Amino acid sequence: MAENRYISQSELERQKRIADTVYRENSGRDLTFFVETFGCQMNVRDSETIKGELVELGYAEAFSKEEADLILFNTCCVRDHAEKRLMGNIGALKELKDAKPGMIIGICGCMMQQEGMAKKLLKRFPHVSLIFGTNVLYRLPEMLQSVMNGERIAVTDRAEDAIAEGLPQLRDNPRSAFVNIMYGCNNFCSYCIVPYVRGRERSRTPKDIRDEVVSLVKSGITEITLLGQNVNSYGNDGTAQMTFAQLLTYVSDVPGLKRLRFMSSHPKDLNDDVMKAIAALPNVCHHVHLPVQSGNDEVLKKMNRRYTRERYLSIIRKLRETVPDIEFTTDIIVGFPGETEEAFLDTMSLVEEVGFAAAFTFAYSPRQGTVAAKSPDQIPEAVKKRRLQELNALQAKKTVENNQKYLGFEGEVLVEGCDMRGEDAMLYGKYQNFKMVYFPGDPSLMNRYVNVRVLKTNKNSLLGEMIDE
Ligand code: SAH
Ligand code: SF4
Ligand code: F3S
Repeated sequence: MAENRYISQSELERQKRIADTVYRENSGRDLTFFVETFGCQMNVRDSETIKGELVELGYAEAFSKEEADLILFNTCCVRDHAEKRLMGNIGALKELKDAKPGMIIGICGCMMQQEGMAKKLLKRFPHVSLIFGTNVLYRLPEMLQSVMNGERIAVTDRAEDAIAEGLPQLRDNPRSAFVNIMYGCNNFCSYCIVPYVRGRERSRTPKDIRDEVVSLVKSGITEITLLGQNVNSYGNDGTAQMTFAQLLTYVSDVPGLKRLRFMSSHPKDLNDDVMKAIAALPNVCHHVHLPVQSGNDEVLKKMNRRYTRERYLSIIRKLRETVPDIEFTTDIIVGFPGETEEAFLDTMSLVEEVGFAAAFTFAYSPRQGTVAAKSPDQIPEAVKKRRLQELNALQAKKTVENNQKYLGFEGEVLVEGCDMRGEDAMLYGKYQNFKMVYFPGDPSLMNRYVNVRVLKTNKNSLLGEMIDE
């Protein structure tokens, strides 16, 4: 088992040799790529790898689809609207391709791992020539070479589900980076397609993770977010030598690392050790994204979430006791099959009780192949929509309430953007606990840390002033 967990060094070297050949063939042709990314941070991170590989294949990043020689859509399929949108996007490129026959149009990502999808798309869109899944990024050199030789291919193997270390990456955020600690998911929440399209849980070794963090910090990055579908089960596949709490400790002392974040956390195994690590490690940020999905025990059970409302609330209470400035964000689904009005009201009362800094709310979307999609008691769309509106209105009220406690608050902000629309430039960035604040300042402060005091609160945001540099 152990030796098959990784794509072999010889295979990676073989790909590298192909990449060198393609690079030589492409040199002098001024080729460019445009990668459009949908979905979650996993896909964002994968796109960075794909872009890094494309650079090694002789492409530079284009500013728009229109000027690109290679267009790639990195897709998501967690909810159903994505497919229609993708079809529209792809269809719209036909004219461009007709005008520029040499151009390559490709599709990759989670949706390509859905049963029959890759074949269906190849058939439906003759102008698409490259399709690949989530687990073969390392084979891009070989795949692109085939396409350049006139083939149309779809590569979605996942039999091996092995980890490829050391792939190139092109990151465009100079201050903050995602680092995968594990791939896949074993939880099979009954509504969710991710375990089917991303495969089983695989953890990277602590050393590979730390080495990546060290090299990112050396390049100037000061904020790292450790990524996994459920970071708290890091190492549970029996292959990593540490628990998640130990990993946090091991990574947090990388010199120069100012902020260490992680997501997502699954409430079922966020244990006391993780709570202690959050409280004790000075650069671990006081923010937990803790998807609750529902506030009703029966729904939680049918969702196969494996925690109760009370267990969820007890995590929140415990963390708030030891880490008073901690903020929580969450994901919530309304209209799960069989969700009664009372069950929905339990979700509302949980949102009222917890006071999330923000909530990502979704109407349940049946995904083919999942258990919940087969359930006979589906909720009418109109009911889902109404519940979603009620929930969003409640969360909006809670966000405003939550913002009040920040009046007069002072803390360090990492400047991540600049809004030039008004008279003065408005900078914005986050406190370590993920709260965003806007304040007047010079654009040269981008990517730096400044101290900001909150002066007033708007509906969704905090407004402040810099107190020193
Ligand atoms: N691994 C993460 C979530 C990844 S998917 C976790 O478990 O926390 C992101 C969010 O999409 C989920 O938390 C859930 O709220 C939502 N989601 C997933 N499947 C969905 C579906 N079929 N319909 C509606 N929302 C869904
Ligand atoms: Fe989906 Fe559940 Fe896995 Fe999250 S933990 S990716 S919701 S199956
Ligand atoms: Fe979507 Fe895949 Fe993420 S289905 S939510 S991009 S893991």
